[in-house]
Amino acid sequence: MKIAIVGAAGRMGRKLIELAEGTELEVVAKVDVAEGYERTWGAGVEGVIDFSYHTGVPAGVTKAAQEGIAYVIGTTGITAEEQKAVDAAAKRIPVVQSGNYSLGVNLLLELVKKAATILGPDYDVEITEMHHRHKKDAPSGTALMLAKSVASGRAVSLDEKAIYGRKGDIGERPVGEIAVHALRGGSVVGDHTVMFAGDLERVELTHKAQDRAAFAAGALKALAWAKGRAAGIYTMRDVLGFA
Ligand SMILES: NC(=O)c1ccc[n+]([C@@H]2O[C@H](COP(=O)([O-])OP(=O)(O)OC[C@H]3O[C@@H](n4cnc5c(N)ncnc54)[C@H](O)[C@@H]3O)[C@@H](O)[C@H]2O)c1
Repeated sequence: MKIAIVGAAGRMGRKLIELAEGTELEVVAKVDVAEGYERTWGAGVEGVIDFSYHTGVPAGVTKAAQEGIAYVIGTTGITAEEQKAVDAAAKRIPVVQSGNYSLGVNLLLELVKKAATILGPDYDVEITEMHHRHKKDAPSGTALMLAKSVASGRAVSLDEKAIYGRKGDIGERPVGEIAVHALRGGSVVGDHTVMFAGDLERVELTHKAQDRAAFAAGALKALAWAKGRAAGIYTMRDVLGFA
């Protein structure tokens, strides 16, 4: 399968190119705004993996929709307006979109949902994430997915319960609040912890990514899985078979 990598010069792009070598996925287009890369992909490309910057995603996914080829989105920080272009494209092509393509985090999403259901709102949920100093968006797409898993396990709306960081005279913590905190520093690939803090005990579920290959391998798998599927938006949980 001939594929294009968008964001090819970046940390994830380089890892994707490295891992695709010698597999059935042949990288024929390395797309990036950086010097020495192609500005877009040409004819013959059968699928695209995008780990770039959110502002570029609408144009990429729209072009893929015109060409009828699958599109895998790893890029996070996509705005509500930009997401409309993704949703419109998904009416015509298979789009896989996930804030995290690792097996471990997708398992964690399931565990967190179950813990949230069993422990209930009496256990205060605090989600922390830490990433390297170069990461541009906050909180991470993974932290947002984990917060959604908590909300789903409690059958509440995340928008109504979420807070992002705390500062000032904010008063006591309301029951049911789902708090998310972003840390940045060093070269951390991606750490996430979901803490359930009760009166008598605390439960902490943690994932630590040690190498970007954990995400890149999942994204390559997702594109091979998506090729030829019906149009629609899929997640890594669909790809892994536990959606
Ligand atoms: N879903 C996941 O599993 C997962 C894992 C890691 C990172 N990410 C996300 O992937 C994205 C990239 O992460 P990174 O660490 O590789 O970042 P990076 O900054 O190292 O690389 C991004 C690359 O995209 C390029 N770029 C920017 N705008 C572009 C455009 N319009 N068209 C083409 N290329 C463009 C940049 O020049 C850069 O080379 C981020 O949004 C990050 O949060 C997702």
